[in-house]
Amino acid sequence: MSGRFVTLEGGEGVGKSTNLKLVVELIEAGGHTVVTTREPGGTPLAEEIRALILGVREEPVSGLAELLLIFAARAQHLAQVIQPALDAGSWVVCDRFTDATYAYQGGGRGLPMAQIEALETLVQGSLRPDLTLYLDVPPAVGHARIDDRPLDRLEQEAAAFHEAVRTVYLDRSAREERIRVVDASVPLESVQAQIRTIVGEFLADG
Ligand code: TMP
Repeated sequence: MSGRFVTLEGGEGVGKSTNLKLVVELIEAGGHTVVTTREPGGTPLAEEIRALILGVREEPVSGLAELLLIFAARAQHLAQVIQPALDAGSWVVCDRFTDATYAYQGGGRGLPMAQIEALETLVQGSLRPDLTLYLDVPPAVGHARIDDRPLDRLEQEAAAFHEAVRTVYLDRSAREERIRVVDASVPLESVQAQIRTIVGEFLADG
């Protein structure tokens, strides 16, 4: 039997890594094997592409070049990791996926959503996540939570970029049943209680 595909999304400083661990633990406790991975990245080649995408550089990066690099990494990741794992019956929990492309490249960069849709169909065929948890915090709150580490090329974008990212995530969440919004502005225990409920219901639905 094919496994299920679960993704985690959110803006900067939403506590994605901590909450990703919880999601994996809950699914494993449900008796499933889990492959944990991330985007952009997840294979050696895709991780190299990630470094190209996120690296801070002097040369301005064309939005279309950024978009194509993201989907190049995704094609490799799907072929090498995600599809084989699902075919083998494992569940896949992925830190970000194509909803991030709609939010960052569509919302943040303002690229046409139709271009993203075309690439999504080309690269993924009919594959879509079965469940997506979107961890929501206002960008100003998220940004304040990022500690002193250097910011990557996308994190360095202006506040308006991150507001546009959030708008697209919320808009997609309202339109797609598979995307569940988690209020991540509250204390961690309350965030995790919401995640337990959502994942619990999803596991119970089989
Ligand atoms: P992360 O550090 O939270 O894993 O995210 C890496 C960065 O990549 C984050 O700023 C969002 C960005 N990103 C995109 O712009 N488009 C995408 O499709 C994905 C998956 C990530």
